[in-house]
Amino acid sequence: MSVTQRVQPTRVDQFFTGTEARMDRWRGLLRLAREWQAASKQGKGEPERTKVANAVSDLKQWEDFFAYPGQQLLSRLEEKVAANDATGTTRLAQSLSNALLTHSYRTNLHDWSDEEQDPVRFADKIPGTDETASHRPYFEVLVVSPAPPSAWAELKAELRKLRRADDRFIYEPVFVSSFEDGVLGAILNGSFQSVVIYDGIDFPSNHHSPVLREFLTAHLAATGLDTASERLGLALAEGLKKLRPELDIYFLTDQESERIAGDPSASAIRRVFYQVEEPLELHLSILDGIAERYETPYFDNLQKYSRRPIGTFHALPVARGKSIFKSNWIQDMGKFYGLNLFLAESSATTGGLDSLLEPTGNVKLAQQKAARAFGADHVFFVTNGTSTSNKMVEQALLAPGDIMLVDRNCHKSHHYGAVLSGAFPLYVEAYPLTQYSMYGAVPLRTIKKALLDLKQEGKLDRARLLVLTNCTFDGHIYNVERVMEECLAIKPDLIFLWDEAWFGFARWSPFYRRRTAMGAAAILEQKFQDPNYKQAYQEQQKKLGPNPGERTLLDTKLLANPEKVRLRVYQTNSTHKSMSSLRQGSMILVKDPDYHTVEEQFHEAVFTHASTSPNLQIIASLDVARRQMELEGYELVNRAIQLALDVRREVNSHPLISKYFRVLPADEMIPSEYRNSGFVDYLTPGTDWGKATKAFREDEFALDATRLTLVCGSAGFDGTQFKNMLAADYDIQLNKTSRNSVLLQTNINNTRSDIAQLIKVLVEISQRIEKRLEEGGKAGQQEFAARVKSLMTDVPNLPNFTSFFGAFREDPASISSEGDMRSAFFAAYREEQCEHLKLSSPEIDKRLKEGPELVSANFVIPYPPGFPIMVPGQVINAATIEFMRKLDVKEIHGYTAALGLKLLSSTALQSAKTQGDAAAAKNPKRKSARAAAAGD
Ligand SMILES: Cc1ncc(COP(=O)(O)O)c(C=O)c1O
Repeated sequence: MSVTQRVQPTRVDQFFTGTEARMDRWRGLLRLAREWQAASKQGKGEPERTKVANAVSDLKQWEDFFAYPGQQLLSRLEEKVAANDATGTTRLAQSLSNALLTHSYRTNLHDWSDEEQDPVRFADKIPGTDETASHRPYFEVLVVSPAPPSAWAELKAELRKLRRADDRFIYEPVFVSSFEDGVLGAILNGSFQSVVIYDGIDFPSNHHSPVLREFLTAHLAATGLDTASERLGLALAEGLKKLRPELDIYFLTDQESERIAGDPSASAIRRVFYQVEEPLELHLSILDGIAERYETPYFDNLQKYSRRPIGTFHALPVARGKSIFKSNWIQDMGKFYGLNLFLAESSATTGGLDSLLEPTGNVKLAQQKAARAFGADHVFFVTNGTSTSNKMVEQALLAPGDIMLVDRNCHKSHHYGAVLSGAFPLYVEAYPLTQYSMYGAVPLRTIKKALLDLKQEGKLDRARLLVLTNCTFDGHIYNVERVMEECLAIKPDLIFLWDEAWFGFARWSPFYRRRTAMGAAAILEQKFQDPNYKQAYQEQQKKLGPNPGERTLLDTKLLANPEKVRLRVYQTNSTHKSMSSLRQGSMILVKDPDYHTVEEQFHEAVFTHASTSPNLQIIASLDVARRQMELEGYELVNRAIQLALDVRREVNSHPLISKYFRVLPADEMIPSEYRNSGFVDYLTPGTDWGKATKAFREDEFALDATRLTLVCGSAGFDGTQFKNMLAADYDIQLNKTSRNSVLLQTNINNTRSDIAQLIKVLVEISQRIEKRLEEGGKAGQQEFAARVKSLMTDVPNLPNFTSFFGAFREDPASISSEGDMRSAFFAAYREEQCEHLKLSSPEIDKRLKEGPELVSANFVIPYPPGFPIMVPGQVINAATIEFMRKLDVKEIHGYTAALGLKLLSSTALQSAKTQGDAAAAKNPKRKSARAAAAGD
């Protein structure tokens, strides 16, 4: 069967990962085996035995891609079924699935044997001795070989013979024979770290399981693998690199290996060998490839440093722990954190510790490794969170007066970035999700319109940076490739900062990767080099003509001029939010051919914001987080997505929970105009892998499944109340809330038990509500309905950004809305230039009607929703006041109820106007614009 043939679709939420689909089969087998065992005790069981036999035969299709349990143990299982041994079958199936679930087979020799057999694999035993080596990480190697399956056992044995006692890692090979099986293997088995491809392989898989077929089709489509290539081995190598860039790929050929090694299409290959001329070399190369990913230069050195006897005469008493362990009063601190934390502390940059601010040694190496892992040109480690990373990038790239297009709903660090750099923010609005008191993401049309307005105003040259949050807190993922491509079509040197604070993990999912800053940049880089793209661009230009109107440009999917574009992409991510870094660990990723032009100011920005005492443990954890993702990120991220889909399904289909709670599906988070592919949700009947993949390729926005907006207003709880209850009564913590929802998220640390606990808690809460309603009688029910209505229906409108006050705009008549926020911000530094008005005072209503305008003196950021409803210099209108008055949250940064709203006084506004007029006087264009706006 070819990959293009239609097969029975599997629901996406059912098996996002191969691991889950496989484990589901093991669970199914175990259930059937137990049923058989019970029936056979009553002297029956033939139909049950047949079911078990079928389940084993189905499972074998999957097991071809895994080293454990392997053919020998599976044959043993089949023999037991054939021998009508229900108890023996159940016992063996149980022990195999236990070993798989706990991963004990990676270290436990006995898992590889059954009760009658000698161990088939000498996991940690040194060959020829009874000695056991110390723990060595275990992985698997995928071998794609045209050799007949009958030869595989011998080839495996030969590879095993190469193991040596001092190997740092241990691996098991798994053989498959075709291009399609190679792809399937890489998809299904996250333990594969290396792939050995022999020249001369065939194309089609001989695995006919429909689910496998669907996995294959979806992944081939997601990565655009070249399945038509003549040289299948090389095409497979290229394809696997697209699916899992971290894999080390080796190519074995009996043709001119030198020629292949020099072929550009072999760039995905780590090393080319002339057949198995040098099996030991291959073995050592495989281990070397793993070592390269495993090595954590900074962390390794820190461990070494901590073991040395070092006298410290610098200002960090806790270093080496002496101030703690010898203390009469604070020894418990030492006990709690352990000695290593203090041995690994220093305020020096000597002893090979390197300097984060001016790295030349292992920090530099660690950053280089991270750059390779994330697909960037450069990576900078930051130890003060992405709040700092954002300000660093913005200070480095922006000068006073530059225009920064930015989502008004972005993290506050960007607003402060504008204040610090003096750049004028031009706020672009995300679409509102009013019912849930949150925002979505910024439509591309809005961004294009802002750029075209700037062009019309003759200010496009000042538009330097576009800042967007990808994905948003609530999970809206941009079509990053398309946003950059179309913006570059309007301004070929626009720089992009993608705030991927929440999305660093996405690099490790073949589905999400294309929607990350670095993934999209890699796609665009290739696209811009393609001669077909150049031709398509020229044809589009011809069609658009010399002076296309704004409407045409907004309606057209614009192509960028590949000869002119400068693809300058920056990404910041809170490594601590989605990977195993300590809190505040963050990275800046750079993919910018013109980085050298900003390198000096980039360093200045680092010097401005980075602490001169960066935390060594955070740096080390960034290094280790990179190692983990390069070695098990694929598996972990897949699992996090699968668990999220499980929660979605369980909550929304549970008969009791779904009466009161609901996880919002994609179609409620993303309006249909942004889902052109027709994708509705992961759980929608009929949503198969093909549709989900198409949506990820084409739609303007996609929803990150791991970010689950759980509506709790329908259970009578506002977000904060529900969050507090979960924490206080059930020990469940979460972060974000809205008026009527809370945000749950799964990440690489979650397990099925966490999910089970969550579901159990939701059942309990639902039962409590049921009981309360039953006992409360009609009055109680009416009260509940009123509360639900107030939370779910009587929701305040979300106020849009109004405008900057005229004095803070160079040209108040301009159709583009950027403003000099920095001047407004500092105008408020003089107490006499500010006034306060109580939110409820009639004076506010009077001023709204009759003026003078109310102008905010500062940022006002309520949590939730967490975006600034006022920024310095912003004109406050009735909608903003109405929103503030309806707000029922306690935490509002920048607002003290006792004092009231902080406004810029008329003196401050007059003085700003005078300064603006003076500046305008020097610039005739500004002068006439200001005069026109003032009606002179
Ligand atoms: C979109 C976004 N960017 C940046 C940050 C700041 O990240 P950090 O907590 O690492 O400073 C956050 C924090 O929540 C965020 O949501």
